Amino acid sequence: MSEILIAPSVLAADFANLQRDIEMVNSSNADWFHIDVMDGHFVPNISYGMPVIEAIKKHATKPLDVHLMIEKPERYIETFKAVGADIITVHHEATVHLHRTLRQIKDVGCKAGIVLNISTPISVLEDILSECYMVLLMSINPGFGGQKFEPVTIDRVKKLRKMIDEQGLDTLIEIDGGVNQETGKQLVEAGADVLVAGSYVFNANNPVETIAGLKSLSR
Ligand code: DX5
Ligand code: ZN
Repeated sequence: MSEILIAPSVLAADFANLQRDIEMVNSSNADWFHIDVMDGHFVPNISYGMPVIEAIKKHATKPLDVHLMIEKPERYIETFKAVGADIITVHHEATVHLHRTLRQIKDVGCKAGIVLNISTPISVLEDILSECYMVLLMSINPGFGGQKFEPVTIDRVKKLRKMIDEQGLDTLIEIDGGVNQETGKQLVEAGADVLVAGSYVFNANNPVETIAGLKSLSR
């Protein structure tokens, strides 16, 4: 059986009760914390930055999966490592020298991944896939939580799965945006490995059970 990894997105947590929400995730069978960093340029929203990540790291007992929605992320790789990132993903659309940026992430000791917006073809990954620990496919337009899942993502997951298998790699496929039990099931069937879920988890009456439900999608 292949295990599906669950990464609750802290963007949907209660920031006035952040330690409580982090401990909830620690106590659940989630695998990672998904940390969304937005700069107000690459995406039309600003989320949180280094001091908050550093504070999360103090309490988190699971790896931090840091999703950088910022222009020229290469400027801040060392800093994100220093505040506690374990995995760093950067948008294909946000950095010109993507190959160099991935190497930079690995050189500081983090796992490296590429994120694709919905409109960016899967084929751009062909010559760089072997450098990636993970590829994150956006299933919404990045910038905000609580949006509706875009169904085109299912075909995109299948295409990427095929490319990974053809190249004989074990790159993880992560999906971000509008994930719930129903879309999660479709994604896992299509070949996804990691599910990010923000509002579905944190707005639930019982977040720990909601996480367990997603985890049970393991195939
Ligand atoms: C949005 C972020 C997501 C967001 C997902 O740009 O990348 O991680 O938190 O939120 P939900 O799961 O509510 O769609
Ligand atoms: Zn994200």
